[in-house]
Amino acid sequence: MKNIVILISGSGSNMAAIVRTAQRDNWRKAFGAQVAAVISNRPDAAGLALAREHLIATEVVDHKRFATRDAFDAELATVIDRRQPTLVVLAGFMRILTPAFVARYEGRLVNIHPSLLPAFAGLDTHQRAIDAGCKVAGATVHRVTPALDHGPILAQAVVPVLAGDTAQTLAERVLTQEHLIYPRAIAALLQGL
Ligand code: GRF
Repeated sequence: MKNIVILISGSGSNMAAIVRTAQRDNWRKAFGAQVAAVISNRPDAAGLALAREHLIATEVVDHKRFATRDAFDAELATVIDRRQPTLVVLAGFMRILTPAFVARYEGRLVNIHPSLLPAFAGLDTHQRAIDAGCKVAGATVHRVTPALDHGPILAQAVVPVLAGDTAQTLAERVLTQEHLIYPRAIAALLQGL
């Protein structure tokens, strides 16, 4: 079985979209793949309950319990490796990962970022797109490399920026597209594995 491990920090709506698609499209039969676990760095992440509702195993590796980023990433890797993952999927995982961690999962690690990369890497993407006067915005699924929010692009979706948009209304429009492209990009990866 190809195991998918999903890392979250918050609401987990992308994670839930992936889990729902995996169930709806029967990824077990189609690709011999399953979402094996959802791991959060925050014990209070709403996505944990959502994962449990879908009968997915959950784990918490609370970054606040670790003195250094290296120590946190080492424990995170231990917990991930117990699931023998084929893919490690970052879905709203709000921690910067160490180069050692990224190297460990090279070729197996993907992320979704709420902008049309390479524009607007980093935080606050929607407000920055509005402030720059962009007419379109969007989201990018990409392979993770040591450079933050860079790495080969696997999928993108474009939405219009509308007059009167706030960061929140734009984020909602982009998020709807994230829920479509992320499961699709993962299915395409699984097909090639
Ligand atoms: C998404 O916009 C994602 O692109 C960004 O953080 C948000 C996470 O949302 N990295 P959710 O936790 O998947 O609901």
